Order: sequence, then C-alpha cells, then structure tokens
Amino acid sequence: MKVLVVGSGGREHALAWKLGQSPKVSEIFIAPGNGGTRLEGTNVPIKDDDLPGLVNFAKENKIDLVIAGPELPLVLGIKEALRKESIPCFGPGAYAANLEGSKAFSKMTMRDAGVPTAPFKVFDEFDQAKTFVENKGAPIVVKADGLAAGKGVVVASTVEEAIEALDDMMVKKVFGSAGERVVVEEALKGEEASFLAFCSGEDYALLPSAQDHKAAGEGDTGPNTGGMGAYSPAPILPREKYEETAELVIKPILKLLAERGEPFTGILYAGLMYTDDGPSVLEYNVRFGDPECQPLLMRLDCDIVDIMMACVENRLPEVDVKLKDETTICVVIAAGGYPGSYEKGKEIFGIDEAEKLEGVKVFQAGTTFDEGKTLTSGGRVLGVTALGADLREAQKKAYEAVAKLSFEDAYFRRDIGDKGLKK
Ligand code: AMP
Ligand code: GLY
Repeated sequence: MKVLVVGSGGREHALAWKLGQSPKVSEIFIAPGNGGTRLEGTNVPIKDDDLPGLVNFAKENKIDLVIAGPELPLVLGIKEALRKESIPCFGPGAYAANLEGSKAFSKMTMRDAGVPTAPFKVFDEFDQAKTFVENKGAPIVVKADGLAAGKGVVVASTVEEAIEALDDMMVKKVFGSAGERVVVEEALKGEEASFLAFCSGEDYALLPSAQDHKAAGEGDTGPNTGGMGAYSPAPILPREKYEETAELVIKPILKLLAERGEPFTGILYAGLMYTDDGPSVLEYNVRFGDPECQPLLMRLDCDIVDIMMACVENRLPEVDVKLKDETTICVVIAAGGYPGSYEKGKEIFGIDEAEKLEGVKVFQAGTTFDEGKTLTSGGRVLGVTALGADLREAQKKAYEAVAKLSFEDAYFRRDIGDKGLKK
C-alpha cells in the first residue's frame, strides 16, 4: 500500500513512524512533512490546505489511503475532494469536521446529542454578547467560532477581560471571519483529560486516556500553547471508566451524525474537564491531538493501517485494537519565546544519542533538514517520547533523553507527568 500523510508536525512524524511498522505499507509520503518525517518516508512540498495539489498528487502516485493529520484539510473538504477520485481518506467529511471547525456547531451538536457540556450562548452581535457577559459576570469563557490556530479561547477571570476578548474577536477581527461569531460559555473548574477513539459510523474503538499540558510554564502557568507534553494513561480517566465515558461523550455524537446522514470516520477526540459533577466536554477535535498522538501511538500494539482501512471500509468491529499496558510520555522541547515570537534555524544536537536509550523515540515537529544538519523551524521543535513500566519510569527515561538533546534557547517544562504522579 502507498499512503499519504498530510501535515508537518510531531503528530505527523508519529503517524509516519507507526505506518512504517506495517508490513502492508510499501511507501509513505508526507505533505509537506518536516526534518523527521523524511526519515520515515518521502516529503512532498504540498501544503495541508492545498486540496487540488494533494488530490492530484494522490491520483498521480496511486495512493491507497490519505491520512489527514490536522483539522484544516478536513474542514476544507479533503475527504469529499478525494472521494471524487475514489481515494479513501482517514478522517471525517466537511460536515462532521465542523465539530472542530465551528464551536457554535459543536456546542449545538453536543446539546442535540445530550452530551454533557458547559451551558452556552452563540452571538453574532457584539452589543448582545457584551450585555450577556455583563449580566452573567466572571469567570466566563469566550470562544471564537472558527479555527484560530488554538488561540481562539479566552478563559476570562474578569468581565473586562471577557469584553476585551469579544472586542478583539468581533470588532477588531483579530482572527478574521473566524471570530465574527462567538460562543460564550460558563467557566468550568477541574482537571482535563483527552479521550480519543477510532470511529467508523456508529462503531468505535477506544484509545487509552491521555493528558496534555497546554500551558507554557511549569505548574500550568503562563500562556496556552499547542501542548508542551502529554502522557498516557491519565489517572483521572482509568481504564475501568472508558466504556461509560464513551457512552457519554463518543457514542451519542456518532449516533446523531449517522442519523443526519453524515457518518463520522476517523479520530474523534473529546477534550474533557472533570468537574465535581463528572466529565464535561470542552471541545471535540476531529483528528489526533498533538502531542497526545505521540504517546498514544507508542502504546498502539498492532498495525495502524489495519485499523484505518477497517474504518474507511466500515468494518471496524472486525479488528482488534491492541494496546500496550505500559505508560508513555512525551516532553516537548520548544524554541525559547514560544508561544510568542522565537528564532528559527538553530542546529539541533543529540537526536541519535537520545534515541539510543531503550524505549525512546524523538519525534520531530518544527524542524527542517538542510545540508546534513537538522535545524529548528517552528515553535514546538521536538517531542521526546518514552515508554516505561509506569509513569515514574517513563518520565525518568524521557527526561534522560531530553538531557541529551540541545539547541540554542531550547525550552521545555520539567514537570510533564507530575500531575499524574500526584494521583
Ligand atoms: P478548547 O479549544 O475549547 O478546548 O479550549 C482550549 C482550552 O481552554 C481548554 O483546554 C481549557 O483549558 C480551556 N477551556 C475551554 N472551555 C472552557 C470552559 N468552559 N471552562 C474552563 N476552561 C475552558
Ligand atoms: N494537544 C491539543 C490538540 O491537539 O488540540
């Protein structure tokens, strides 16, 4: 089989790495890929939003399966575009991808499906949203409706902060049309966990729980990032709770979408907040999380292509999704300054050394390869991922590997996994 992975982050490196373990896969292409994916397959210089370019490449190279890493191509309709050429795509169609592409659609779908989520209201007019916020008081959460590169959510601790967020989104349009509509919702308190499943219509196969670390600073301080590290499982969502949690947050969504004639294929990712009243869905993503994908795929103990093909061919119950019992953890090394401005082009040292440690894999995210050197090219640079008998061992190994890696102004959190160890 020939497969094409769309995207360029650590998640896509992990996907290409896992695909490379399949005896069924003869060739892997990554568009556009990064300095790490080139070690697993062939990078092709096509961007993730260039649908005609991607479809043409897939057609000309007789690709058997396209796997969309990020949400953007899915929201833009890559599945439909590929379907016209009879090329299977692992990921949902544009309608279902709106679970991530539109916060308003997502919240309304959750409400229709009876999924627990924070009470909310949707606004298209700034004045009405402002009056609502003033009446409700803080803390309160303001979300841009559309895709805003992970920056469209403001958890405001004061009314002034919430109004400023509304002004930025609806009046100043800092996210362009993505912020013309907003969702305002109740602020929830609790610990977060990520829960992902391979889905095919109403069938699903669960992945183990994971926990991301969104804040840039240790102790969950500082600005939000794409994720500074993750581990699996998350003690807050233990295995014995998986099925009942899926009944609550995965099954009703799949059922509703199927009833609407828009069955969901791909990864459904529920971002959960564990409040005093139990889990509540903060958001859905329609793809693997990054960096959650890295520790999750390290725990996958079977051929990922078998699962993905079963999903696109509507025969998911036939496959046995096997998982390793061990714990995995991913520590992200970022460029100093991220998520604000940062420099690029720094040479990275120590990848081979780090990977000599048993059970360690360095997934590359913001890297390029130039004249024999691996250079930084993005904010999140490396995802150092390790497997251990338990969280303590996995964490120790990951940080041992981190110590072997270096580039100028490298930054990482030293407390990835600590929250899980406290449990
Ligand atoms: P989202 O993109 O909706 O997951 O939001 C990004 C982050 O904002 C989440 O991971 C939470 O940390 C936070 N967040 C979102 N919605 C809420 C909420 N209703 N209450 C508290 N925090 C929230
Ligand atoms: N790590 C969070 C996400 O991928 O959305």
